[in-house]
Amino acid sequence: MPCEVIAIDGPTASGKGTVASLVAERLGFHYLDSGALYRLTAYAALKHGVDPDDETACEAIARGLAPEFRGGRIFLEGEDVTSAIRAEAVGIAASRTAALPAVRRALLSVQRAARRAPGLVADGRDMAYVVFPDASLKVFLTASPRARAQRRYKQLIDKGISANLCDLTRDLSERDRRDRERAAAPCLPALDAHILDNSGLTIEETVAVILAWRERARAAA
Ligand code: DC
Repeated sequence: MPCEVIAIDGPTASGKGTVASLVAERLGFHYLDSGALYRLTAYAALKHGVDPDDETACEAIARGLAPEFRGGRIFLEGEDVTSAIRAEAVGIAASRTAALPAVRRALLSVQRAARRAPGLVADGRDMAYVVFPDASLKVFLTASPRARAQRRYKQLIDKGISANLCDLTRDLSERDRRDRERAAAPCLPALDAHILDNSGLTIEETVAVILAWRERARAAA
């Protein structure tokens, strides 16, 4: 029997990366940040002068992607790109590249290969209904656009990256729209997902809700 997967999907800056990695840590599970794979593809495209909307060229990049995950850092072609792939420009390019069906297909097997014992917590947009449709728990984590823009602003300022709240709110709405309206795997909750709006919750409270849902799902099974 394949090992347990907890799928945590949601829009950008919903806190799902932090929450998913903490849930994984608490359970001693592996963690998959699928957004990093789209960001790495877009980063490599920008670096090599490839248009992030060019499906054939971006598919080739995605198929040849050989990132190394070492000590909490991400290396691509020997370069430490951990911070670089978090830049807003890369996130915006990633949302364009992620709309290309051939790129999504190219990244499918890498994501599924992350499913290893004792279990996996996977975060992204389509973990629940494309990549791991048999996940034992599916969570769609969201928060109001204002709360998410403020979180992203704080993240950037804390990293010493200058940011403007109005620009961030506008870029975030634009990215939400592109992620939600694209034909290929739009960012929408799976029919059987638990929806959690964490605008008024701390990270710890959000983690606690998810762990309680997992216990309930296990008891029911
Ligand atoms: O979660 P993130 O902001 O790091 O994701 C970067 C982009 O990749 C985002 O615009 C949506 C896209 N993405 C996706 O389409 N499917 C995923 N499973 C994860 C991310």
